[in-house]
Amino acid sequence: MAIRRIVERGDPVLEKRCRPVTEFNARLHILLDDMAETLEEAGGVGLAAPQVGILRRICIVKDSEDETIELINPEIVETEGEQTGLEGCLSIPGRYGIVTRPYKVRVRAQDRDGVTFEIEDEDLTARCFCHEIDHLDGHLYTEHCDHLLSDEEVDQYIKDHPEQFEEEE
Ligand code: NI
Repeated sequence: MAIRRIVERGDPVLEKRCRPVTEFNARLHILLDDMAETLEEAGGVGLAAPQVGILRRICIVKDSEDETIELINPEIVETEGEQTGLEGCLSIPGRYGIVTRPYKVRVRAQDRDGVTFEIEDEDLTARCFCHEIDHLDGHLYTEHCDHLLSDEEVDQYIKDHPEQFEEEE
C-alpha cells in the first residue's frame, strides 16, 4: 500500500466528471487500498478517487463504526429528511462551511469485485456519501454553502451546536 498525494481545490481534476469503473481488477484493488491508507493518514472520513488524481467513479467512506465502505459507481437511490451542519474536505484543508444534506441516504454501488449492493446510513455517514459522490461529478461542498467560515465563525458554530459535536463512546 502507498499513501497518495491529495490534490487541493484549484486543481482542475476536482472539477471533472469521472468515468465509470468497468474493470474490477488488481489495479482497482491497489487504488482502493492506497485510498484507505491515504484517508487514514489524513484523518478524514471520506475520500474520492479524483482527490488522488484518478478520474473514476470510486470513493470510500468511514462509517460511525469506523468501517471503511468502498463504493464503486455509486448512485444515491433514496433520501430522507434533512440535516444542516459543518462540512469540510481534505482538498480544502482547515476550512469548513455550513451545508444542508439529506439526513438519511440509500446508495446503490458495486464492491471491489463488481458485485452490486445497497447501503443505507444516516447523519454524518449520509452526509459523507453525498459529499463523496458529488466529487465524482466534479462538485465540491463549497457549491452548497454561501461562504467558508472564518476560524471565529467555526468556534461560534461549535459553541452554538454542542449536540453535533458530542463524542460517541
Ligand atoms: Ni471532499
